[in-house]
Amino acid sequence: MTESLLDRAPVVPVVVIDDVEHAIPLARALVFGGLPVIELTLRTPDALDAIERIAAEVPEILVGAGTVVTPAQAKQAADAGAQFLVSPGSTPALLRAMTDTGLPHLPGVATVSEVLGLLEAGYTEMKFFPAQACGGAKFLASIHSPVPAARFCPTGGITADNAPDYRKLPNVGCVGGSWITPSDALDAQDWTAIAGYARGAARL
Ligand code: 3PG
Repeated sequence: MTESLLDRAPVVPVVVIDDVEHAIPLARALVFGGLPVIELTLRTPDALDAIERIAAEVPEILVGAGTVVTPAQAKQAADAGAQFLVSPGSTPALLRAMTDTGLPHLPGVATVSEVLGLLEAGYTEMKFFPAQACGGAKFLASIHSPVPAARFCPTGGITADNAPDYRKLPNVGCVGGSWITPSDALDAQDWTAIAGYARGAARL
């Protein structure tokens, strides 16, 4: 994959999946709505199975694992068929494990020193998390001039309302968020509603 993770779609849907049976219809709803990317967070027992199913059955979507917080999870996600990895942080062991998978990955940062640390390690693209709690769009706007080499996918507290504040910044490629796949719509298997949220996000 030569395309940057940050340029696949304007919004990366960040999903907490409780039922593996939702995986395929959910992925199809996102593609139908115009968002060909999904990040399954490794926060529920069904997440790895969901990644495996989507990777096998919905080739139109790029499926990744999110909330990778241990080196072991990086390998498990790769073994399940994840096509990219996202972590909320960036410890040396996590960076090594994610690199060892050979997959594109976005380590997380929340401070300028962490951004500099990742640049030193050769990364130019990273997740900014938790975005709203750590200064939001103003933080990213403020660091563009001193640290222009870094590009971000901010995540955490982003909504359809505040996403445009991030999207207009030169150092933001895409934003991530769970608002496209709210738990009530997932529980109700309301794929039409989720396709609608995806359509709105795809226009951002
Ligand atoms: C993530 O893992 O990126 C976040 O938990 C997503 O944050 P949100 O639920 O506030 O969108």
